[in-house]
Amino acid sequence: MEGPRPPSGHEWSHLLNFLTENLRKGESWSISDEYPTALTPSNLHNVRIMTENEQIVSHAVFKPLIIKTPQIILKIGAIGSVVTDERYRHQGLSREILKACLSLAQDQHCDFAILWTQLFDFYRKLGFELAGNEMNYVFEHDFKPLAEGLRFSADSRVAPESLFRLYGQHTINTVRTLEEFKKYLKIPKTQIYTAWDSGGQLAAYAIEGKGADLTDYIHEWGGGVKPFMSLLSWIRKTKGRPFTLIAPKHSQNLLNEIKKVAPIEHQGYLGMLKVIDFDQLSAKVKKTYRNEGIVDIVLERQGPYVLFGCGTDLITLERESDLTQILLGPLTPESLPHLKPITIQKLSKILPLPLWLWGWDSI
Ligand SMILES: CC(C)(COP(=O)(O)OP(=O)(O)OC[C@H]1O[C@@H](n2cnc3c(N)ncnc32)[C@H](O)[C@@H]1OP(=O)(O)O)[C@@H](O)C(=O)NCCC(=O)NCCS
Repeated sequence: MEGPRPPSGHEWSHLLNFLTENLRKGESWSISDEYPTALTPSNLHNVRIMTENEQIVSHAVFKPLIIKTPQIILKIGAIGSVVTDERYRHQGLSREILKACLSLAQDQHCDFAILWTQLFDFYRKLGFELAGNEMNYVFEHDFKPLAEGLRFSADSRVAPESLFRLYGQHTINTVRTLEEFKKYLKIPKTQIYTAWDSGGQLAAYAIEGKGADLTDYIHEWGGGVKPFMSLLSWIRKTKGRPFTLIAPKHSQNLLNEIKKVAPIEHQGYLGMLKVIDFDQLSAKVKKTYRNEGIVDIVLERQGPYVLFGCGTDLITLERESDLTQILLGPLTPESLPHLKPITIQKLSKILPLPLWLWGWDSI
């Protein structure tokens, strides 16, 4: 057995065949079209494989993402397409590959690693924990638009620059280039919906579907609350069947409007996350508090434990993975036991950090 190692350039087509055979059998497109910024030759250095007799038997891909939030910039390492050939499972190959991906995350100074999975216990053994917030709303029925005078379209021929401009207005987003944005727009099974104002300017957009995933899910969108709600109203009427919107918890103005017309709300997790560079993360969190005038935050390791709180009012966390749910939610400072009200008030100034990844970022 050889690896984990990055594939060489001449193994690229072999790798795509392995992934298609194991993860996308029967689909008409290449899996690299679905993950155009991760499964691409320019990210080969972040791919890890194991081979036997020159055949690929196990794989995972890593992609670092920079997430801007109003208070903090986080570097998150996304891990995806984790797969082992059926004949080679239960030998610890994926575990080895994942550890190699976590080293990449460490070497590239990520604060957290993230992945999306149903195999919670498998990844818990590697220190991942479900964390962060993600809201889902099912649009069961037609509803009235919030704004008048807009024109709607389901035509995919939209200038990427216009969509990219609205994407850039989100308070929390991943740093993307226009070139990356253009590649995402070409993902198979992507439906683009747009709303245009009377001056011909793009007022809102919504993206539904992503290759084999997210059919009938709107996972990326942009624009003001009123035009976007009006676009959703038009999509509901045009589709003639329910769809689901995936939204961040911090979009409070939007969520308030959505709840009026789509009362079925499901609160889930952003993904499975793991702290990668504790010292770097601790320094960033303390700096963010200092910017808010709070100078006595304690976030440090003590032996196998993590100490967290203000001044001498501290709690002891037994595992670093407990910290993930405190920093990113769904836990809130009020839910932490034994802390004084003044400490809870201070911690609540920035926690939980409103981390969000849009649908195209999941790999
Ligand atoms: C999930 C998947 C990637 C795991 O691959 P794998 O190489 O078998 O993974 P590992 O061998 O590292 O671990 C699998 C299990 O075998 C166990 N194992 C590891 N080494 C072992 C050994 N020497 N003997 C027996 N069992 C072993 C692990 O503890 C783990 O147990 P768990 O499932 O109870 O947690 C594989 O089943 C797969 O490709 N599934 C289809 C694609 C998929 O679902 N991918 C996940 C997307 S997030």
